[in-house]
Amino acid sequence: MLQRDWRSPSGPARALNIADLREAARRRLPRALFEYVDRGAEDELALGTNRSALDRLKIRPRVLRGVAARSTEAMLFGRPMELPIAVAPTAVAGTLWHDGDVLSARAAVAAGIPYTLSTFSVTSLERVAQAAPGGRLWFQLYVSTDRDHMRSLVDRAGHAGYEALVLTVDGPVAPKREYNVRNGFHMPITLNPRLVWDVALHPRWLMGVAARHQLGTGFPSMAHPPARGVHQADPSIDWDTVQELRDRFPGKLLLKGILHPEDARLAASAGVDGIVVSNHGGRSLDAAIATIDALPDIVAAVDSRLPVLVDSAFQRGSDIVKALALGAAAVLVGRSVLWGVASFGEPGARRSIQILGEEIDRVMAQAGCARIQDIASEILWQRPS
Ligand SMILES: Cc1cc2nc3c(=O)[nH]c(=O)nc-3n(C[C@H](O)[C@H](O)[C@H](O)COP(=O)(O)O)c2cc1C
Repeated sequence: MLQRDWRSPSGPARALNIADLREAARRRLPRALFEYVDRGAEDELALGTNRSALDRLKIRPRVLRGVAARSTEAMLFGRPMELPIAVAPTAVAGTLWHDGDVLSARAAVAAGIPYTLSTFSVTSLERVAQAAPGGRLWFQLYVSTDRDHMRSLVDRAGHAGYEALVLTVDGPVAPKREYNVRNGFHMPITLNPRLVWDVALHPRWLMGVAARHQLGTGFPSMAHPPARGVHQADPSIDWDTVQELRDRFPGKLLLKGILHPEDARLAASAGVDGIVVSNHGGRSLDAAIATIDALPDIVAAVDSRLPVLVDSAFQRGSDIVKALALGAAAVLVGRSVLWGVASFGEPGARRSIQILGEEIDRVMAQAGCARIQDIASEILWQRPS
């Protein structure tokens, strides 16, 4: 209904960058939902920490290297991906657009990149697997106090053919996000007078998402709820939990939320297959180090024993090239794809990935790198502090 044609003058092709998609999403979403996606935690310092660290790092290009034939193809776990990016797990894609989890997964599959489904998605992991056949699907796991529920999710992800389990390790307790309290917003979404008013002011979301859900399966809610209905983060999560999951899940195991080189070393020794250097997009520990600053020590610590991925604030191709130059195998993108799906559904998610892909390709050419393997630390420069 509200899904506009890809080429129309008001469609996603008009978005020239991720910021344009964010602005389109801002106009369409209820404020509480927009802020839930956009903002950070506490004083929201980590958002700026990530951004300024990326901006401080400069590219010192090589020239005259014959970059006419370029390829953005990267390898991860012995398999090719068309771009060195994967879609990060985000709880809310399915509430930004009707069936947003499925549409985002399909966009990722079409672009030849992995898609990560969140524990907190509103679409079941089986349905996403069925709706996005042939894709590289990863399932993100939060450990809750209901350990039997956790085990059953892991088994379900294995049976449904998920390539990887992404265990998020940076959430032993819930983060402090004060704007959500002020907006009367929490996950799963429950209506209250403040939210009803907010929704009424955004009729396109009301008709396109809320009303369609109401007519079908009811208001979007968690597809994988624990027995008691509410997820309770388990602060007792430790390396024994990692070992249990390592033994239980047949596919690849990644740890997401590593910022310390010693934890990266422990992860390599624990036999995990990959780590994601992440501060949760600046949404969790507000005093956290920028991920691009944490990356070099972590890459050195694991010493090629496993691939190191990174996320948080990567919204330009140049951001992604910088991470690759510091040794990242790939970058996870969260909000960038959410803004696409929130504004135009699947074509919007595709547009986000296309924008990032084109920017990566252009920066590679400008930096004198024809292939992903050519991107190395020699192209980076930072003013000595
Ligand atoms: C709205 C939103 C919901 C998120 N939900 C989850 C989640 O369910 N599980 C998880 O591990 N990370 C979650 N994240 C964190 C992302 O996986 C990722 O670390 C972060 O978004 C990367 O930063 P970026 O959004 O700047 O790309 C969420 C992020 C956002 C913005």
